Amino acid sequence: MIKAVKDYIRTIKDFPHEGVLFRDVTTLFADPRGFRMAVDQLLSPYAGLDIDKVAGLEARGFILGGAVAHQLSTGFVPVRKKGKLPGRTISQAYTLEYAEAEIEVHDDAFHPGEKVLLVDDLLATGGTAEAGIKLIERLGAQVVGCAFVVDLPDLGGRAKLEAMGMQVHALCA
Ligand code: PRP
Ligand code: HPA
Repeated sequence: MIKAVKDYIRTIKDFPHEGVLFRDVTTLFADPRGFRMAVDQLLSPYAGLDIDKVAGLEARGFILGGAVAHQLSTGFVPVRKKGKLPGRTISQAYTLEYAEAEIEVHDDAFHPGEKVLLVDDLLATGGTAEAGIKLIERLGAQVVGCAFVVDLPDLGGRAKLEAMGMQVHALCA
């Protein structure tokens, strides 16, 4: 049987709390065929486009985004949780299930007119990606696409990003 990206992702019941079916992409990343397939499929709509930077959302977006940036020969920018970046930052709050959080980028990480591809492992409510898009746009750059391995459409993330005018690319649900 030829395996698809989805077949390499493990689902763990009741993590991080009861009732959640957690999509665990570590099994995808650990498999040489699976990882290459995921990276190739993530970047395929963008190959040949004029992209300056890939932005990866902490933490699993770093693993995928770094590989995508290397393959597209672009720069890579980590969008980090609050308090991790050493230089001057701008930050954006977003809502988690039970709390507020903030993500940050260095204030010179993007420049007006740059074209940016946003990458993460999973789209759920879309709150994290929305905050990442806002950071990129606040620095004058343009998000040309948002690429995810997994989209959980019932949680509304795709609809939220598309309502912002974003192009969303996901490999599986
Ligand atoms: C997960 C996932 C996405 C985000 C998706 O990261 O990797 O970044 O949640 O959820 P959302 O669409 O509802 O915002 P998490 O916040 O668990 O951080 P981690 O990768 O550092 O564990
Ligand atoms: N897996 C990984 N990250 C997540 C998930 C999941 O199922 N749901 C929300 N963030």
